[in-house]
Amino acid sequence: MSHPANEPYVRNAWYIAAWPEELEDGLVARTIMDRPLVFFRGPDGKVAALDDRCCHRGAPLSHGQVHEQGIQCGYHGLVFDGSGACVQIPGQDFVPATARVGAWPIVERQQCIWIWMGDPDAADESLIVDYPWHDQPEKWPHKKTTFRIEANYMMMIDNLMDLSHLAYVHRKTIGGNPEAHAAAEMVIEPTANGCHYERWMIDSPTPPTYVKAVGFKGNIDRWHRFTYHTPSTVIQNNGAIDVGKDARKNQDQPGLHFQILHTATPETETSFHYFWSVANGYRQNEPEATQQLFDESYPTFLEDKALLEVQQQRLDLDPDYRLVSTGLDKALTLARQALHKAIAAERPAASDAAE
Ligand code: FES
Ligand SMILES: [Fe+2]
Repeated sequence: MSHPANEPYVRNAWYIAAWPEELEDGLVARTIMDRPLVFFRGPDGKVAALDDRCCHRGAPLSHGQVHEQGIQCGYHGLVFDGSGACVQIPGQDFVPATARVGAWPIVERQQCIWIWMGDPDAADESLIVDYPWHDQPEKWPHKKTTFRIEANYMMMIDNLMDLSHLAYVHRKTIGGNPEAHAAAEMVIEPTANGCHYERWMIDSPTPPTYVKAVGFKGNIDRWHRFTYHTPSTVIQNNGAIDVGKDARKNQDQPGLHFQILHTATPETETSFHYFWSVANGYRQNEPEATQQLFDESYPTFLEDKALLEVQQQRLDLDPDYRLVSTGLDKALTLARQALHKAIAAERPAASDAAE
């Protein structure tokens, strides 16, 4: 039995499966929701997601290679197109209609490759989270990457919904003073498919990464805005300007402005692919500033990874272990409630499919 903090998957939803640049050198093998998949860009330029198992003798297609007609199995050379249909069998002209592998709906949009792992007839593209910052490379130059974290995907959402952890987990990077974090003013509200919060830290000490980025000399007014979209995407907007400039009214003033897309795509019940993208809104004409923001963010997110993985190990030891909520868990609680609503909404469809 698994710990109740480990949430099950929402299948009828869009998840980021890959970044487009990952496919520049060929195929990508990635397990999503326990299902091994292979991703590649087909001859028509479209990204395909197929089950990573050849229908001939079961070899992983990801051991093969991208082919002019799709993907070629590396065992006996069968070729499959982006729809999963076999289009070539070496040594014979006839290709039986049964020679095919599973294919999953994919949408490439705003420099993200989204996958739908539920009922294909319900794959409504209008449900994809909008991320217009990727469309504005001059105003918001960005850099992105992905790595695995061995924890349930909702541990990452919990982490992003309670920023009081910054003062402890990230004290050497973006942290700042613990009291200032605990005293931050929070406005938290539910949304149609998740929750949103805004967090203000007025006249607070400047963390080292902020000084490095824009050379703040003294204290700052600092704000964060986080929006959770079920099941596993969080959009973050951050800003800071020198103290004493009435930041609430003057958020557009020069200072530090950055934007982050976080998404946690479940690999298994206790692991996920963390996709993140940081955009620089303060020294846009300097590629080295975007690189520096990325390089500063990376170790910060590795600090989260290290914490989440040991947390998961502890929870796995005892599924009956009761966790205690604190006053700082309000956004986290709203996020979990929104997720439970999404899980409940697809339950009838899930039981229909099983019949
Ligand atoms: S297992 Fe793929 S071609 Fe034989
Ligand atoms: Fe963190």
